[in-house]
Amino acid sequence: MKRIVVAVTGASGIIYAKRLLDALCGKAEVYVIISDAARQVSAVEGLSLDGYPFHYEENAEIGAKIASGSFLYDAMVIVPCSMKTLSAVANGYAESLIVRAADVALKERRTLIIVPRETPYNRIHLTNMLKANDAGALIMPASPSFYTHPETIEELADVMVARILDHCGIEHNLQKRWGDA
Ligand SMILES: Cc1cc2nc3c(=O)[nH]c(=O)nc-3n(C[C@H](O)[C@H](O)[C@H](O)COP(=O)(O)O)c2cc1C
Repeated sequence: MKRIVVAVTGASGIIYAKRLLDALCGKAEVYVIISDAARQVSAVEGLSLDGYPFHYEENAEIGAKIASGSFLYDAMVIVPCSMKTLSAVANGYAESLIVRAADVALKERRTLIIVPRETPYNRIHLTNMLKANDAGALIMPASPSFYTHPETIEELADVMVARILDHCGIEHNLQKRWGDA
């Protein structure tokens, strides 16, 4: 079973994290870190990320095992990723477990998927995305496509989740692939 780290930060779009956690049930060993701001946005957006059969880590616990390069995992996903956390990752400011784990993923050359959410982007946001990309992160903006005709918000979120799972190397049937019958 793959081991995946899922970090949730305080950008809008908690549903992406929730649908990802749903999809990972029974498919991966998952470590979850939720920032304080993510908890605030979860409350506003009316979604809980608690109660999954996963390992929950405190974002302030910089001594947790996922803070070390010796702890192996297959991929880390920051979803949704706030501009603040993007900035911290892009600049190596590892003051929380989320940013430290992302810093470790980059230095260990592991898959780090960042799902930024803000609109519009300013120059700082864009520069930080380029910096993170150049350091090895995969920038997957929360920009679901519509050509599969999603009918619910959950189906729309799953368009993103399907692409995230593809990059984590986890099989799924969330969506038909383009060209499949
Ligand atoms: C309801 C709500 C929605 C927010 N949406 C966004 C957003 O879409 N993108 C963003 O970068 N910040 C957003 N923020 C601001 C972040 O939560 C804030 O910058 C916070 O410090 C991020 O902390 P974190 O990265 O540690 O989670 C939002 C805040 C609130 C309360």
